Amino acid sequence: MQPQRTDRYAFLPGTQRPVRIARAEGCTLFTPEGDRILDAAGGAIVANIGHGRTEVVEAAAAALQEVTYAVPPFVTEARLRLAERLQEHWLPDGVSRCAFASGGSESVDLALRIARQHFVSKGEPARYKVIGRHLSYHGTTLSGLDVADHPKRRPALGPWLHDWPKAPACYALRCDACRTAGACTLDCADGFEAAIQAADPETVAAVIVEPIGGSTAGALVPPPGYLERVAEICRRHGILWIADEVMTGFGRTGARFAVDHEGVAPDLLVGGKGLAGGYAPIGGVYASEAVTEPIAAAGDEVMFYTFAAHPSACAAADKVLEILAREALVERAARMGEALTERLQAELGDHPHVAEIRGRGLLQAVELVQDRASGHPFPREANLTARVVAAGLRNGVFFYPGGAGAAQDVVCLGPPFIVTEDELDLIATALAKAIDAGVARASR
Ligand SMILES: Cc1ncc(COP(=O)(O)O)c(C=O)c1O
Repeated sequence: MQPQRTDRYAFLPGTQRPVRIARAEGCTLFTPEGDRILDAAGGAIVANIGHGRTEVVEAAAAALQEVTYAVPPFVTEARLRLAERLQEHWLPDGVSRCAFASGGSESVDLALRIARQHFVSKGEPARYKVIGRHLSYHGTTLSGLDVADHPKRRPALGPWLHDWPKAPACYALRCDACRTAGACTLDCADGFEAAIQAADPETVAAVIVEPIGGSTAGALVPPPGYLERVAEICRRHGILWIADEVMTGFGRTGARFAVDHEGVAPDLLVGGKGLAGGYAPIGGVYASEAVTEPIAAAGDEVMFYTFAAHPSACAAADKVLEILAREALVERAARMGEALTERLQAELGDHPHVAEIRGRGLLQAVELVQDRASGHPFPREANLTARVVAAGLRNGVFFYPGGAGAAQDVVCLGPPFIVTEDELDLIATALAKAIDAGVARASR
C-alpha cells in the first residue's frame, strides 16, 4: 500500500487516522471533500469567537506589515494597545502588570519563574516550592508538569520532576469528605493548608490552581467560597497564589475570568487559549504591583521568550477582545452555557453510563463510567473516551477528549461563544449517539 501523503506530518507514524481540515468558519470545520465537522470543542477549547473572522486576520496582517519583529521589551503600538485593553476592560482589580508568551505552557512557566524571582528579589530565597492540586494540568513544560498532576502526562518524566505535596481536587462526585458530611465542607481548600505544612511553609513560594478545572478531570467547578479560602491560606503564609486560567479565561465560563465568579483576585493570573481565540499563538501572565515591585526594586529581571508579544499576535488578541466586548459574547457564553446544560441533561441525565454532567458557561464535561451506581469506570484498555470522540467525528461533531486518574473517561465540550441553539441541539444529540456507539464498542 502507498504511504499516505499526510504521513509526512505525523511525528509518530501510523498512530493516528489523520483528519484533514481545509478551512474553518464560524463553528464549523470543513474537510477537503467539503464534509462539515461541528467544532463542539473550539479546537482545544480555544476558538472563543469562532473561526474565520476576516477583521482579525486583517488586524494581524497590518501589525506584521508595520513591525515584523522587535525584541519583547521594545514597545510597539500593537503591544501597547493590547496591554491597555487588558488593563482597562479585562483584568481583575489590582492585577495589572502584563507579560506575554506564546501559549499556555510558556505562560505558566513564566508565572512560576516570576513567583520564584519575587521571593529571591525580596530576600526570601528559601521559598521555591509550588503547591498544586491533584487532577490538574498546567502545560507541557517541565515546570508546568512539575506542579500539576496529570497521571497520563507525568510518568515518563518522573525522574525530572519534584514530588512536592499536592492538595486534593474539588471533585465532589468522588469526594469522601463530601459523602461523609452530606455536603461540601471545603476540605478540598483546606487541603492546601495540609500540603503547605507538609512541604514546610517557609519553603513554599506559591500555590497554583485552575479556578475551574480544565480537561484533566473535566470542568470541575469548585464549591462556593473555595477560592476565597485558598487565597486566605496563601495570605496567612505569605505565599503567592497563581490562577491558571489558560482554559477558563476570556469568557469561557461566562465571566471574564473564572475567579470573577467568586470576586477574588489572584496575585498572578495566567491566560492563553482564548486571548487570541486561536488566531495567533499568544498567552500571558498578569500580576499585581506587589508581585513585580520587589523584582523591579532589586533591579532584577525575568527572561523573556524570543517570540513573546509578537506584534501580529498582540494585534490579533486585541481585535478578538474587541469583538468579545462588541458582540457581548461573554454574556452569550453564560446564556448558551445554561442552554447547553439543559440539553445535555435532557439527552444524558438518566444515561446508565453518565456519572455526571458538569461545568460552567461553555466549558462543560460529561464523565462516563461502566456502572453509574458505584461510579466504577470501564477498563482502561477499552479506551472509551477515544472511542466516543471517534464516533462523534464519524457523525460530523468534534468533542474534546479529557479524563485522567480517577476521572478516567471524560468528554469535554467548549464550542465557540457564537454557537447557535440549533448547533447545541446537534451537539447534545450527537454526543448521546457517540456515547452509545463508544460504549457498544468498548463493551465488545
Ligand atoms: C489549565 C491549563 N494550563 C496550561 C495549559 C497549556 O497550554 P498550551 O497547551 O497552550 O501550552 C492548558 C492547556 O490545555 C491548560 O488547560
